[in-house]
Amino acid sequence: MAHELAGKVAIITGGAGGIGRATAKLFVEEGAKVILADLDVERGEAEAASLGESAIFHRTDVSQEGDIEAVVDRAVSAFGGLHIMFNNAGIVGGMKPKSTRLIDADLGDFHKIMGVNVLGAMYGCQYAARQMVKQGGGGSIINTASIAGVTPGFGFQIYRASKAALINFTKSAAVDFAEYAIRVNVIVPGHIRTTISSYREPGMSQELADKLEATMEPIWFANQPLKQRGQPLDIANAALFLGSDRSSYSTGGIISVDGGITAGDPVNHIQEMIDARASVLAAQ
Ligand SMILES: NC(=O)c1ccc[n+]([C@@H]2O[C@H](COP(=O)([O-])OP(=O)(O)OC[C@H]3O[C@@H](n4cnc5c(N)ncnc54)[C@H](O)[C@@H]3O)[C@@H](O)[C@H]2O)c1
Repeated sequence: MAHELAGKVAIITGGAGGIGRATAKLFVEEGAKVILADLDVERGEAEAASLGESAIFHRTDVSQEGDIEAVVDRAVSAFGGLHIMFNNAGIVGGMKPKSTRLIDADLGDFHKIMGVNVLGAMYGCQYAARQMVKQGGGGSIINTASIAGVTPGFGFQIYRASKAALINFTKSAAVDFAEYAIRVNVIVPGHIRTTISSYREPGMSQELADKLEATMEPIWFANQPLKQRGQPLDIANAALFLGSDRSSYSTGGIISVDGGITAGDPVNHIQEMIDARASVLAAQ
């Protein structure tokens, strides 16, 4: 089969993390040249090395405009251009808050989280588009949001707001960049098996991490129609579609890869009401 991304150059931010790594591997398998852009030098360099000559690592803090400008320049100097920008780096903020309630929340991380999740992606869109325009237009920009940006609720208030902002921004960028045939879409992952979602702590044993995962699985599945855990490759596959010419008519779109979480509540409340009514009446 022909390589879907032959001749394309991609930057993947958060490239040393679970979703970024899986995407980098798939993109390289599909013929792309890839730059893994991440804060984590050790893991980033190791991942890039494992992918061979088609991948390089570039230390990048996406919240710093100069770093984004530099990584786009690196794509041009190392691989001759830029065709796909995957703004995927993201942080959640405190994974062990004292309370999930807004009334108790510590909002001190606001600027840090917004700086990475929103401003980082904005810089990514802007500098990628400038390069794509220089090349004569065309290209694909992909942002990673979250179910947290679509389903309001308890906890992670800043993270939810950041991902909702990113979804709205994606659509504005899509409208704005259409003139240059640059497409901008956003992926909404559900519960994907990576460190960000496992409540792991650095140094935790695999055995303990597995135990934590198993304990939390029923909680994750409670609001998810499909009872299976998402894998990084599920998101990578969506990124491959959006990065390739197969999605040439898609811009401003939201692809949910979330086991149906944003489709609706898997609890059959209507049946529960009918059953409850029947049992009250039967007891008369
Ligand atoms: N895993 C999930 O369940 C899930 C669900 C919804 C959305 N997401 C989103 O997916 C994206 C990828 O997350 P993941 O699950 O692979 O998590 P991860 O923690 O494995 O990877 C995130 C990567 O981003 C990097 N990073 C953090 N801050 C950075 C910065 N300022 N500049 C550059 N790199 C930085 C980290 O070093 C890490 O390698 C994030 O945007 C996250 O919000 C994940």
